[in-house]
Amino acid sequence: MIAIDGPAGSGKSTTAAAVAKRLGFVHLDSGALYRAVTLAALDAGAPIRGQRVVALARSLPVRLRLTDSGVRAEVAGVDVSREIRTTRVTERVSEIAALPVVREWVNAELRAAAGQAPGVVMDGRDIGSVVFPEAGVKVYLTASSTERAQRRLAQHGHADDTDAVAAAERDIMRRDAHDAGRTVAPLVVPDEAVVLDTTGMSFEDQVDRVVGLAKRAFGSLDTVS
Ligand code: CDP
Repeated sequence: MIAIDGPAGSGKSTTAAAVAKRLGFVHLDSGALYRAVTLAALDAGAPIRGQRVVALARSLPVRLRLTDSGVRAEVAGVDVSREIRTTRVTERVSEIAALPVVREWVNAELRAAAGQAPGVVMDGRDIGSVVFPEAGVKVYLTASSTERAQRRLAQHGHADDTDAVAAAERDIMRRDAHDAGRTVAPLVVPDEAVVLDTTGMSFEDQVDRVVGLAKRAFGSLDTVS
């Protein structure tokens, strides 16, 4: 288990996906599950109360499914990978992720999904601290909030729009404050985690650093290319 935590837009998911590919591991994006639960709750128009949201997630069901082409988020059997990245979900996800029973449900799902794979890279906010404190490698990825906002917009081809960068930076800072300030499983640097500040670092270097940590921790990995 390689646990990658960090604030919004620090590149956890893209890094985790690339590391998993290099090592032949499965990538599990815990944020995608929180986003899928949020999407389901918003679509149901249900009041945002923990037990209600969990009942909905169980009955639909909401889940991460391991497929031949990777892991995808599903609601009622439908692939929602795109829809979970929309603004209406991003705006509400931290609120739903702060509900303790929702976190318990997500954690159980993540542990069950991880149990099916021999090697896993999981990214989120509390993976090294709460979900898998025994992970063999723990990384805390971070970068300046401006760089994180620019990267987020670069994914959509708008990195030189200064107003858009400022708006994305405000959203990122708002979510960081919410995630770090909550009572249950707040965003923290996990014990024993290697902190990687990627401001100014290339994506390839970022991936190499994590793969290097994995090789050191796990010894020779047969599948490493
Ligand atoms: O946008 P970004 O990729 O940074 O976020 P994400 O990983 O998709 O996670 C979306 C939201 O889910 C976060 O802002 C947190 O509120 C919540 N989350 C969490 O609380 N714990 C996790 N392990 C993962 C995500």
